[in-house]
Order: sequence, then structure tokens, then C-alpha cells
Amino acid sequence: MSDQNPNNYSRRRFMAQTGLGLLAFAGMPRSLKAMEGMQAMPKLPPRQINPNFKADVDIELFCKPAILPILAGRQTQALQYTARLLQGPKGVLTDIPGSYLGPIIRLHKGQKVRIHLHNGLSEATVTHWHGLHVPAEMDGHPLYAINPGEKLVYEFEIQNRAGMNIYHPHPHETTAKQVYHGLAGALLVNDEEEAALGLPSGDYEIPIVIQDRLFDAQNQLVYVRNMHDRMMGFYGDRILVNGRADFQIDVDSRAYRLRVMNGSTARIYKLGWDDGTPLTVLGTDGGLLEKPETKPYMMLAPGERLDIWADFSGRAVGSQLVMRSLAFSGVLPKMGMMMNHSGLAVGSDYPIFTAKVTRKVSDSPKLPHNLSSFHHYQTADTANPDKPLPISITEAHMAMLLNGRPYAYNDVQEFERIPVNTVQLLEIFHAHGGGAHAGQEAEAMGHGGMGMGGMRHGGMGMGHGGGMGGMGMMMSMAHPIHLHGQSFQIISRSANTANADDYATVSEGFIDHGLKDTVLVMPGEIVRIIKPFQDFKGLFMYHCHNLEHEDMGMMRDFLVV
Ligand code: C2O
Ligand code: CU
Ligand code: CU
Repeated sequence: MSDQNPNNYSRRRFMAQTGLGLLAFAGMPRSLKAMEGMQAMPKLPPRQINPNFKADVDIELFCKPAILPILAGRQTQALQYTARLLQGPKGVLTDIPGSYLGPIIRLHKGQKVRIHLHNGLSEATVTHWHGLHVPAEMDGHPLYAINPGEKLVYEFEIQNRAGMNIYHPHPHETTAKQVYHGLAGALLVNDEEEAALGLPSGDYEIPIVIQDRLFDAQNQLVYVRNMHDRMMGFYGDRILVNGRADFQIDVDSRAYRLRVMNGSTARIYKLGWDDGTPLTVLGTDGGLLEKPETKPYMMLAPGERLDIWADFSGRAVGSQLVMRSLAFSGVLPKMGMMMNHSGLAVGSDYPIFTAKVTRKVSDSPKLPHNLSSFHHYQTADTANPDKPLPISITEAHMAMLLNGRPYAYNDVQEFERIPVNTVQLLEIFHAHGGGAHAGQEAEAMGHGGMGMGGMRHGGMGMGHGGGMGGMGMMMSMAHPIHLHGQSFQIISRSANTANADDYATVSEGFIDHGLKDTVLVMPGEIVRIIKPFQDFKGLFMYHCHNLEHEDMGMMRDFLVV
């Protein structure tokens, strides 16, 4: 049904204005939602090759069903990216043997890349290059999704500095399901600045993609079973690293570089070594820090990456070190915790992988004092130093929203239009956190003329802005908020006083000095970021990287104009 249908439109507006829409919407079967018109996505013809684009690297990327060994015994049905290098230097593609994960794609800053995506699934898909700064039409926006059997051509130049990025599907409402079933991979960018450091490479640079999965008795993947699984995010009871359970690496007694990614749909980790050795971090989502940082533990939310220096020198052959997720609290509503039936509770203490020293070597690279340099923006550099762009988080009874509105591809609000080549100050906050920000959110929604006023005032049985200790806070959970396009810098995090005990279990684990594209926003927290919107016009999504939330509509577009 067309979105232009005036009857649908006015009905939708009525429902939205009265605040009835969302509750009804969230509980509706998909067929009814489609009739409502909110979900209608136009189908664009798949993009073809531009013969004038001279590719340095040309890759065919396939996504298709696969049957793989994950646990002992019966093999598991999954979905998988595979790739073939048509043109380009050796070493662009590295398969992870036996894993459902896609091959590691290694690219260099300045390279021109063409990727032919073939949809071998039984449903629509599109691939997004999470972390890359590419034109809007190359970004894997759901508008560009292709049907089974179709091919989509991407062509872009690598403008990013060195860093670890992610490629994963981004189709409308089915991102989480496709990622969960296996579609994801690492895309590493290298540059001169990084190469000059001589960091551990080859066998000494190891990708660590952490995911959680739930299996049935036949070793088959189980996914979202009910509304609760969507609202809280879906949690498995098995931790997989690089697609394997009980992951172990054999290491030499020397320094390694671990390229760590949280590829889970919802699970948040608190990484720490089991013997209390502090973690040394070299980089974050957007590449290397200026200097290494040492932390007792590090938080890693879905979509985030960490570049970790792991030094096993001086350790005896036969000794082992276990990377664990350590105990923490406060990322899920207390209610959600109680209803979390997974055998592996979020925030409990459990192992992720083991590094076992199997060979003694005498030589090891030294940790560099300085790693990189990058431009630091100040609030005064932004176009809006006194008026941050809001990203408000609403947790309603049956819906998770950003800026009070569910996702629709054609619903850009006035404040979501951003002039190209500007640098913007943004503020991410919980809508029912109370205080000054509630007014700001109202203003944000007011621009659109169809604000969800009813939601904010708690008319739907959710929290009202009455204070941190109220129902609002009980419903509150942490959300990893991701912005497409260029990396951003985190300027400030408000102290969280309402639930200080919970907050203290995570607060030392944030690496806020680096470049980021995803930031974990704890309940009640107010996070200010500065982000440039340079070079490319068009639609750039911002969303929760709890992928169940994303698929529920906790996503919006910025339109760079
Ligand atoms: Cu990794 Cu829009 O996502
Ligand atoms: Cu992204
Ligand atoms: Cu979320």
C-alpha cells in the first residue's frame, strides 16, 4: 500500500498525535503494519557499475545460507558472507576457517573499492560498512536493499584512517535476524601512520569477534521468541568468538594485537583478564588513540570495537590467561533482569576466551608511547554550541524510540536536516530522565508537528518525568547509540547520581578519548558528542545498536543537505 495514500496518512497522523499509534503499532503483526503504510519502503533499482570508476580493489561478496560446525555434534544452519577477489593486491581477503563469519577484508586508506553484493538469501538484504565514511548511496541504507537473486554495486574510496570496521546487513526490520544468523565480518583499514608503528601483525594480530547465541537441542539457532526478547534485546547462553564456542588461542610469550569487536545483537561485555592484569587499549571504533591507555576493565557494547595490546612476554609455557566478562549491573531494567531467562545473565561473570602460552620466544615488540594524532573539536568549533541536536531515548511499554518517533524512511524532521560540511554538537539522553532536557526533547518533537506528547507524560503506563527514582528509571536501560558517517568525539558524560552503585560497576570502563561511532549511554546518563558531517549529502542513519531495538524502529535518519 502506497505511503501517499491520504487516508493512511491522516489515520497515521491521528494515531501518532493521540499517542495511540505506537502501542498499537508495536503489537501489530507485520502484515497489518504494512497496511498502516508506515513501513512501506520504495524499491529502488539496484545500483550498477560506473565504468568511469577505476577500482584498485574489486570484490564479489555473496550472502547465502550455510551449514557449519559451531558446537560439537550436529552442524548448524546459518547465513554467511563469502567473498572472491576479482582484482587487487593479495591479502585483501582472509577467511576465518570453519567460521560462519565473513572473510576479513583488509583495505588501505586511499584505495578505490568496488564491491558486488549478491543476495543469495530468501529475503531482501543490503550491506552496511559500519565505521566507514562513504557517500549516502554506498552506506547500505535500507532504501537500497535488494531482493533475492539481485546484485548491488558499491563503489567508494577509503577515506578512513586505520581502524577496525564491521560489515553487516542493514535491511528494514530484519538487520538483527540476519546478523544473528551469521552475516557479519571485520573490515580493517590500514594507513601509513599505523604502519610506521610496527604494531604486532600477521600471526600476532588476532581478530576477536564476540557474539552470543542460543541453540536448541539439535544445535540449531534459536532467535526472538516473544516481545520481551525484543524489548530487552536477545541474549544467548553460549559465547562464541570468531564463530566458535570455547575459543582458545595458542600464543607465543610476546606481545599481540587483539582486534576486538562486539558482534552480539544486544549483549554488553565488561572485558577483563582473569588474573587482574590491566587491559591496555590502543584504539577504539575510529582507530588508534593518541597514546595507549590502561584500564582495569573495558566496557564493550554491540557495534563497538577495541584495539587491545596483550603482552604475554615473561609468561611461562603452559600458563593461560582468560578474558572474561566481569560482573556489573545497571544496563537492564531491574524488571528485565528478573525476566531474563537466558542461562547467562547479562552482567554476570563468565569466560569469553582463553589465551594459552605454548611457545617461548625471547623477542617482543615494545608498546609505543605515542600512537597517532587526530583533530580534536571543541564545542566552540560547532555550528550549534548553545543548542545541541537532541537524540532522546524513549523506553515505552512496547516500543523503543529515538526523538519520540519510530523509524520511517521519509520522516526527516526539521532538526534532522544538517547542512553539509558542518560540525555539530549532539546530546544523547533519556527522555524521562527529567530536568532541563525534557523541554529540549519537547522542542525537538515540536518541530515535526506530530509530537508524541502523550508518551512523554506517562499516559501509557510508562514513566513520567517525575524523577530518576520513579517508574521511568525502573524501565530504563543502557543503549549503544550509533551514528553513521564520520566518527565523533565524546565531550562529556554526566555523572549518574541516581543509581551510583550500578554506575560504579561500569564507569571506569569507557574509553572516551578516541574516535567513536557508537557510544554506550547508561540509564540517566547525558552524553555530549561532537560529530562532523562532511563531504556527502543524503540520508545517514542514527540508531540503537542493540539490533533488536533497531529493528523495532529505534532508528532515525539525518538528512545532510
Ligand atoms: Cu552497525 Cu547502522 O549499523
Ligand atoms: Cu554504521
Ligand atoms: Cu536500545
